[in-house]
Amino acid sequence: MAKIGCFDYETYFDRVRDVTEGTPELAELLHSITGEQTLPFCDYALIDLVAPYLADRIQGSGKNLFSLDLWSAGCGSGAEAWTLAMLARTTARRHSAGLYFGVMGTDISSLALQQAREGIYPESELSTLPPDYRLHGFTSIDSEYACVTEELAERVCFVQSNLVTAEELLGIDMDVIVCRNVLTHYCQKSKHRILDCLVDHLKPGGLLVVGLGDLEGWNHAAVCTASKDSLEACIRQ
Ligand SMILES: C[S@@+](CC[C@H](N)C(=O)[O-])C[C@H]1O[C@@H](n2cnc3c(N)ncnc32)[C@H](O)[C@@H]1O
Repeated sequence: MAKIGCFDYETYFDRVRDVTEGTPELAELLHSITGEQTLPFCDYALIDLVAPYLADRIQGSGKNLFSLDLWSAGCGSGAEAWTLAMLARTTARRHSAGLYFGVMGTDISSLALQQAREGIYPESELSTLPPDYRLHGFTSIDSEYACVTEELAERVCFVQSNLVTAEELLGIDMDVIVCRNVLTHYCQKSKHRILDCLVDHLKPGGLLVVGLGDLEGWNHAAVCTASKDSLEACIRQ
């Protein structure tokens, strides 16, 4: 607040709600509240849930699956989106050579998106990746840093977007949406609104993965649960 010269909450609230000038400040505010947790680059629980799901989806689809479309909603500095890209690449190669895949990462924070787009991470963070993902997903820059490969970067895009108004993302239908460590900061009403909206962006049979506790008290007629271990998930019928 003080950084932008606001010293009371009401003035700050009005500034953040201002349509033209408020968005960057809202983004920075959210980033400072939700974005600074230190998370491991790669979460094996996510891979264990999504990899077999995608394999089944490819195998069960006959010739009706033309691409794998994945979305990291609230992608932070990009680790989740890049992990999904490596996962989709590996699964597509194993089960349907040549199947196209694309990953979209969205976040409200321009700071987070800048880092995500850059795709450069310290080697120390990448040490949690499965060896195959590290080998094919990243190229070493020097002894301390590595950068995502061009092949992977071609399949991933990052877009600034607020999940609270995600219904504006028209025409986007996904096989997998992952939204973790984001919803926990929202009141139940907003959380449920975001979840409803994310389900609307799933293809039939698509999978939504969220964090533990995020689905509590939420009901949606079109989904059935598919939770596993530390992740809550549901599938659109
Ligand atoms: C802790 S990070 C989580 C990153 C990633 N999902 C993960 O689990 O590794 C939370 C991210 O959610 C973003 N975020 C919070 N509210 C958001 C909203 N309404 N729309 C888009 N992004 C949001 C923050 O900017 C932050 O980058």
